[in-house]
Amino acid sequence: MKDAPDPVKLPKGLAGVSVTDTRISKSDPDGSLLYRGYPILELATKAGFEETAYLVLTGKLPTRSKLESFTEGLRERAEVGPKVFGIMRELGQDANPIDVIRTAVSALGSIDAEKDLPGKQMSLEAKMSVLAANSHRVPRGDSPRTPKKDLRFSDNLLQMLTTKEATEYERRVFERVMMLYLEHDLNASSFTVRVVASTLADPYAAASAGLASLKGPLHGGANEAAMGMLLDLKEPAKAGEFLRAAFKEGRKVMGFGHRVYKQFDPRARICKEYLWEILNRRGGDDTLYQLCDSLEAEMWRAKRIPPNLDFYAAPIFYSLGIEVPLYTPIFAASRIFGWMAHYNEQVGDNKLIRPDSTYVGRSGLKYVPIEEREP
Ligand code: COA
Repeated sequence: MKDAPDPVKLPKGLAGVSVTDTRISKSDPDGSLLYRGYPILELATKAGFEETAYLVLTGKLPTRSKLESFTEGLRERAEVGPKVFGIMRELGQDANPIDVIRTAVSALGSIDAEKDLPGKQMSLEAKMSVLAANSHRVPRGDSPRTPKKDLRFSDNLLQMLTTKEATEYERRVFERVMMLYLEHDLNASSFTVRVVASTLADPYAAASAGLASLKGPLHGGANEAAMGMLLDLKEPAKAGEFLRAAFKEGRKVMGFGHRVYKQFDPRARICKEYLWEILNRRGGDDTLYQLCDSLEAEMWRAKRIPPNLDFYAAPIFYSLGIEVPLYTPIFAASRIFGWMAHYNEQVGDNKLIRPDSTYVGRSGLKYVPIEEREP
């Protein structure tokens, strides 16, 4: 057996390190984002959610018949059984929605009747929306909301999330925000999914690990934290003062900053326009937009850090009448498609992901019996 080569030491957080080749998507520091080679703006203005999900999963835009059978496959698998809802309910009213979804996805790993890999993946993709929409209500004892057979994927999620009636424009905005959340190269949760996939564990295991990674406020949890901040701020004129207090206390400002985008996040730019347009079309109160705009300007002036997708997706969800604890679940309902694309790419050319570490601890210590140890 060959001697192992000396380990290569990499920067903390693997910042700026390429750990795999991928054909799925590419974010660039210049503010561009491609899904399978297509610029995100091109897709957001011309394609639908199901079409984009198909593209990200397979690498090709679907023909009409392929799109119909993909959409039908999702519809057929969207039903979540009473056993899974029962497990969600058992977690009780204080349960965090992402914990609820993660537990439900783990349960599906044992309960789901799908036999083959494509069926399991499609079942997860279809059910994630239903789990997301019910992740806050079912543990509180409310009855589950279910999808309708005749609705588009994003319209269905929206009608399960809120009973507030949305206009056609608002529904299209929600669909596009979901498309922007669908995939983002090697973000923390997709990397987590790939690590689990590399052990050849099933997609339920990989998706539950992805959900665990998504929960944190530095990743998926940022949209809820950003909304909390906007609601606390209340007055646009207080943005500068608010930020100075955060900097003084060493707090990160949620919804700002990105590992790749240092000038601007293209998804945030698109969503900023959508937010303005939603409020403008309604007429009247545009405080939410003014709050965002003044925080963005003050943050750029103070630190040259731009807002990310979460910062502008959150107020869009808020203006659509969606409760804040459901924002990270919406992210999950969309990103599951990206996760499965990464799962497939990983297992398609697999090597177990098992890095090394540089040991900086002590060595050669002698065991001390418990009665002789210093207090
Ligand atoms: N608020 C305040 N300062 C921030 C910041 C934020 N949101 N994001 C980055 N910074 C500062 C860091 O404190 C650091 O300053 P320093 O060099 O003086 O120590 C510098 O900018 C570089 O940031 P760093 O955390 O090293 O960048 P990163 O690439 O590791 O982190 C994030 C990227 C996303 C984790 C980080 O920007 C962040 O925590 N953002 C808030 C959470 C969020 O919105 N997450 C969603 C991401 S899509």
